[in-house]
Amino acid sequence: PPAGAATGKHIVITAGPTREALDPVRYLTKHVLSNKSSGKMGYALAAAALEQGARVTLISGPVALSTPFGAEAVAVESAAEMHAAALRLAPDADVFIGCAAVSDYRAAETAAHKLKKTDNDDTLTLTLIKNPDIISEVAALETAQRPPVVVGFAAETRDVERYAAGKLARKALDMIVANDVSTAGLGFGSDDNAAWLLWRTPSGNTSEHQPPQPKTRLARTVIQRALALLPA
Ligand code: C5P
Repeated sequence: PPAGAATGKHIVITAGPTREALDPVRYLTKHVLSNKSSGKMGYALAAAALEQGARVTLISGPVALSTPFGAEAVAVESAAEMHAAALRLAPDADVFIGCAAVSDYRAAETAAHKLKKTDNDDTLTLTLIKNPDIISEVAALETAQRPPVVVGFAAETRDVERYAAGKLARKALDMIVANDVSTAGLGFGSDDNAAWLLWRTPSGNTSEHQPPQPKTRLARTVIQRALALLPA
């Protein structure tokens, strides 16, 4: 691997959306429940981490992107699969980055056969169960198991910095990357992103605004800031 700031470090990244099966041919995804994810930001983070010499494991939901050369891919579909992979890999990670758009809910039951519509039914009622918050669980691992640096993402449409600060504290993260998704041409599906980076310091939070820029460039900055938080 190339020599860089991350040589000898293992960076584990979750990326892309999850899919929650309703039946053998249908699924729910975060698209219907709240937002959508192309996986571009997570894959850009993986590429940036590799550039810095890290060993990279990319836990990814279904996306139309190829795994950056040199990364170890762990392909998952559902939040439950992503959760299991994340908790299995987290104890070995120096930096854990949760960039996936995890579906907030899954179906209470998955039908064994395709759900049939009938002439009598104009409505379909689904019971949904909340999925585990993967990054919160990783951040809550006991010291010996917890990655020293845990980074989350937040997509907000207003009061970006304030909501991000709340999420940083509530999820016990070390850093959060918050983007304003109300701006056209930025964020979901786009190649560009603008963001607030917020991280903890002994004397409180530090924040840094990143103007609109290619996700590849923002990814390099996120990786640099995350590495800087590693204990010496
Ligand atoms: O709470 P919210 O979905 O806004 O938080 C976003 C952050 O939490 C992202 O880092 C995302 O990857 C992570 N997350 C998670 N598991 C969930 C929901 C969100 O890891 N079930």
